[in-house]
Amino acid sequence: MVTLVEALAILGVVLSLPYLYHLVDFIWLYFLRPTTIHQYLHGAAPYALVTGATDGIGKATAAELYDLGFNLILHGRNETKMQKVIDELRARAKRDIDIRYMLADATKAGHNFDKLIEPFKDLNITLVIHNVGGSNGVQPERLVSSATYCFVAVPAFTCRQLMHIGFYYRLDDRPEEYIHNLVRWNALFPLLLTRVLLPQLRRSAKHGPVIVQFVGSLAADISPPRLPIYAASKRFLEALTRGLDNDELFFDGPTGVRFTYLAVGPVNSASMHQKPSLNTPTSERFAKAIIARTGCGRRRVAPYAMHAISQVVVEALGQRAVDYYTAEEMKVLIKHYAKSN
Ligand SMILES: NC(=O)c1ccc[n+]([C@@H]2O[C@H](COP(=O)([O-])OP(=O)(O)OC[C@H]3O[C@@H](n4cnc5c(N)ncnc54)[C@H](OP(=O)(O)O)[C@@H]3O)[C@@H](O)[C@H]2O)c1
Repeated sequence: MVTLVEALAILGVVLSLPYLYHLVDFIWLYFLRPTTIHQYLHGAAPYALVTGATDGIGKATAAELYDLGFNLILHGRNETKMQKVIDELRARAKRDIDIRYMLADATKAGHNFDKLIEPFKDLNITLVIHNVGGSNGVQPERLVSSATYCFVAVPAFTCRQLMHIGFYYRLDDRPEEYIHNLVRWNALFPLLLTRVLLPQLRRSAKHGPVIVQFVGSLAADISPPRLPIYAASKRFLEALTRGLDNDELFFDGPTGVRFTYLAVGPVNSASMHQKPSLNTPTSERFAKAIIARTGCGRRRVAPYAMHAISQVVVEALGQRAVDYYTAEEMKVLIKHYAKSN
């Protein structure tokens, strides 16, 4: 006969099983799992394509991939800066690695994507990182980003570094052109590039796995006030990841082409000057985390462990609390900014 105490103990164990599973899974993913990035080095001359590769996370990730032996196709918008990045990469090793590039302003409409990838269409592309995007730097306004990244590091609402103006604008105060630019930058550019790359990626997948990774943001999980367009455009990428993965895995496939959404928290970069800390890695440190998690088989992954913890905290606090404190913090930041100007 089971006593009440024993029954409660059994219930306690059963209820704690999911938490135990998550803990073991976390330890496995971030501390024990060996990298499987080498599985994408297959076929004759494998290439990795990285967008937004002339600075920040994209540049650091390209350098990691170069060191691993991937040939590179880099995307940027500034030829002089691109040449400088290529020279820096070539100075890293004596290996005979091919580096090519393409230039396109991702905020602009009217790109001929077929033409853009034409010079690379016979290459064996096995890894794509859609990194280009952001929430500031869109003309005609320059909008916030850094503040939001601090919010997602809940519960450490400590950031008071305001870097960009414009986050006090509501949707109806923003020019239509701004909205188009922001959505093209974060969502449509990666979507349309993926569209033209897919046949080629399926060809590469005939002799080994191929992966396409979209760089998302933890801001998309909390949609802070005044940043709904940025958050929504990153959410778009998450839904796109799942849908495309379903297409390639279950409907027409498996074709061997897989998709992952990378949930990114604060990272020190060219456009995000928050001081590096445990929660805010440098772009170089973050790039190593991307490489370590690539090929882990998940459709959504936070490459950096501390960002994964932020995500858990946000979920645990619940939407109401997170939304309330985020809105309050946004008000404080706006006031602070207004005063300092
Ligand atoms: N840093 C963070 O805290 C953080 C947090 C969450 C998500 N993310 C996401 O991570 C990605 C990279 O961010 P980051 O902080 O590394 O940015 P970053 O340091 O500003 O670097 C952005 C890269 O993209 C290029 N780029 C920017 N606008 C472009 C455009 N319109 N057309 C073509 N290329 C363009 C830049 O080129 P130039 O060198 O010419 O400027 C640079 O190579 C973004 O998608 C961002 O949303 C970042």
